[in-house]
Amino acid sequence: METSSIDEIRHAFDEALKSVEHKKDLQDLKVEYLGKKGKVTGLMKEMKNLSEEDKPVYGQKVNEVRTHIQGIIDDTLEKFENEALEAQLKAETIDVSLPGRRFQLGSPHPLSRTIEDIEDFFIGLGYRVAEGYEVETDYYNFEALNLPKSHPARDMQDTFYFSDEILLRTHTSPVQVRTMRSEKGGGPVKIICPGKVYRRDSDDATHSHQFTQIEGLVVDENIRMSDLKGTLQLFAKEIFGPDREIRLRPSYFPFTEPSVEVDISCFNCRGAGCSVCKDSGWIEILGAGMVHPNVLEMAGFDPDKFSGFAFGMGPDRVAMLKYGIEDIRNFYTNDIRFINQFKPTEDGGVHNESI
Ligand code: PHE
Repeated sequence: METSSIDEIRHAFDEALKSVEHKKDLQDLKVEYLGKKGKVTGLMKEMKNLSEEDKPVYGQKVNEVRTHIQGIIDDTLEKFENEALEAQLKAETIDVSLPGRRFQLGSPHPLSRTIEDIEDFFIGLGYRVAEGYEVETDYYNFEALNLPKSHPARDMQDTFYFSDEILLRTHTSPVQVRTMRSEKGGGPVKIICPGKVYRRDSDDATHSHQFTQIEGLVVDENIRMSDLKGTLQLFAKEIFGPDREIRLRPSYFPFTEPSVEVDISCFNCRGAGCSVCKDSGWIEILGAGMVHPNVLEMAGFDPDKFSGFAFGMGPDRVAMLKYGIEDIRNFYTNDIRFINQFKPTEDGGVHNESI
């Protein structure tokens, strides 16, 4: 065996190395030269054909080539691996001085939050949350509430009509009737109903053609005006602060008799007079009364056996008072800067709470 073929193989390897660009090329080269059927391995297999005196010289030369090739492959492999690591480190570099990425945390709409607070309070008193329809019939919105077609009090609520009989509900009171009917004349009924209502008002700082109401209704045997008063007193303290008092003023609603308007003592000036209470010391927050016997009867309840109270309040107004919001339209224009002012605080309250 000629030692020149050993040199040729060495030379061929050195040449082939020049075109190695990737780790994979190197691995192929390694197999080609040092693998089981590789070129250097082939040289070793030739040993058996040599004379005893040639063997050591030949063996030494082949070993040299093998060490040479193995060394280069190891070094180049290490070089490739280092380069890959460098590139990865570079790609994954974290610049700890970069400002963090901000992501927007949502916050409950102040109106939703107010409705939920009010719901929680009444659920705590054993009320159930009922729902009705925003598109109603004239019958449920008016007639069954003791407001026959020609009743002048219909003018109290400017109505959006789809037809003579179909309208957008002007208040949540139709849910009273629907709930009583579904109870089929048997008490007790104890519900609140939050929802959207619609009136043909021109929008301004205190009016919106669409706003929210929460209706309350309790019907059972022996329900008295004092039950209504006690309930609303608790409500005022829960929502507006423990020192609040309420005041009932005689009023008129066709579906309640007697009817009252309910005021709370001003949480801002505590009765001294300020702009929130228009110097009266009192703030009107809801309408209420004892369910009219006609309403009970039309809904299938015996007015000689059952009595009840009902109230209707506007969460828009409650939220405006509570958070010092001056324009009702803020609730409906969806300006994120407005809503962001009402982020929940860690103690479960809300930034901007004025009470
Ligand atoms: N439905 C009345 C309104 O919208 C409020 C109300 C509800 C009054 C229940 C008395 C009893 O003005």
